[in-house]
Amino acid sequence: MAERELLCIYPWMAISQESPGNRLSVCCWSKVNIKNVEKRSLEEIWNGPEYRYLRQKMLEGDIEKICKDTCPFVVNGKYVAKPDRIDGIGREYVENKRLMWKEIESGKVVISSKPTYVKLYPTNRCNLSCIMCRQGNVKSEHIFDKMMNEIRGWFKYMDRIEFVGGEPLLSKEVIEFVKEFDPAEYPDLKIHIITNGILLNKNIIDMMDGKFRSLSISVDGASKEVYESIRVGGKWEVLMKNMSYLAEKVRGKDVEVKILTVVMKRNIDDLFNIAVMAKNFGFSVGYQPISGIWHGQSIERRRDIIRAIRQLKKAQKYYPEGVYVNSAISDLSRKLDGGGSLLKKVFNRVVSIGGKWL
Ligand SMILES: C[S@@+](CC[C@H](N)C(=O)[O-])C[C@H]1O[C@@H](n2cnc3c(N)ncnc32)[C@H](O)[C@@H]1O
Ligand code: SF4
Repeated sequence: MAERELLCIYPWMAISQESPGNRLSVCCWSKVNIKNVEKRSLEEIWNGPEYRYLRQKMLEGDIEKICKDTCPFVVNGKYVAKPDRIDGIGREYVENKRLMWKEIESGKVVISSKPTYVKLYPTNRCNLSCIMCRQGNVKSEHIFDKMMNEIRGWFKYMDRIEFVGGEPLLSKEVIEFVKEFDPAEYPDLKIHIITNGILLNKNIIDMMDGKFRSLSISVDGASKEVYESIRVGGKWEVLMKNMSYLAEKVRGKDVEVKILTVVMKRNIDDLFNIAVMAKNFGFSVGYQPISGIWHGQSIERRRDIIRAIRQLKKAQKYYPEGVYVNSAISDLSRKLDGGGSLLKKVFNRVVSIGGKWL
């Protein structure tokens, strides 16, 4: 029988809290919400009806039901291949990862392996009021403490714990966790934070040293004027000071710092210069499509779309090893094409590969 490739292994690998409410997901591009998290244990949820559905649909290649078409895997058509070998230090980490692959290969939807990647939302509070973001307005009950208590038992299997928000550096719990975290105890587990960078001062950077493999800083302008007009409350000089110290601190180390830029009306003419700035710091840069229209920053006019795509292509040409533009360009191009479901195209391609996957 012909073989079919699997688009993504997140349903076997990840638990993601995408908002401060009582809901989980597998990633920020998932259409499936896992509700009532406060009433169920994570063990129950991991093999509960939502995860079984997600795994089944992924096995069938029926991603239209479960994935948004802004997902980079969908955009890039990048299929996940089985790794030649599983890198890892801890015995339990490596054994869990091997088991995970076995379970994926045999098409299991109820699994014994544990998640290796957990994303948490410690707070919806923020020190900034960015024009395209409404995180600060989202009010809901927190499940952060419950999640942290439950996943501690999984740390030995995990390679990534990620904190987003709100501004995660405002969370005392996150700061305490990072302070107390001992990389020798969990050598495969690395912490990742998505931050606006304003609170990322020398003390915090020194405290984080050795505990991070990657860090994302959101920067939407390459000049004081554009940056501060988008990231309201953010100070360009503070950001530059923090990023300069960080660049110095991570130089020559195995740490990837990525600038995240939301592509919007206000920053079209800064997009290329953000790549120049990232390269100067030795960071990479990922351009994200903007979501929502309520902020009035979505790029809709044909000539603006073309300008933005030109900037992004120029950035990619200038810094090919450090610039990630595909999902932003794809999002803009679709608007030029008048819409059209990318998911359908990818779905058809996956299905046409053959009957059974793997
Ligand atoms: C909500 S923030 C939380 C973390 C942190 N406060 C920060 O700004 O990096 C996470 C990411 O979402 C991005 N973001 C905010 N509003 C967005 C929107 N409307 N569309 C797409 N991304 C957005 C931010 O730029 C940031 O990279
Ligand atoms: S700093 Fe992050 S969470 Fe805060 S308003 Fe800006 S994008 Fe939203």
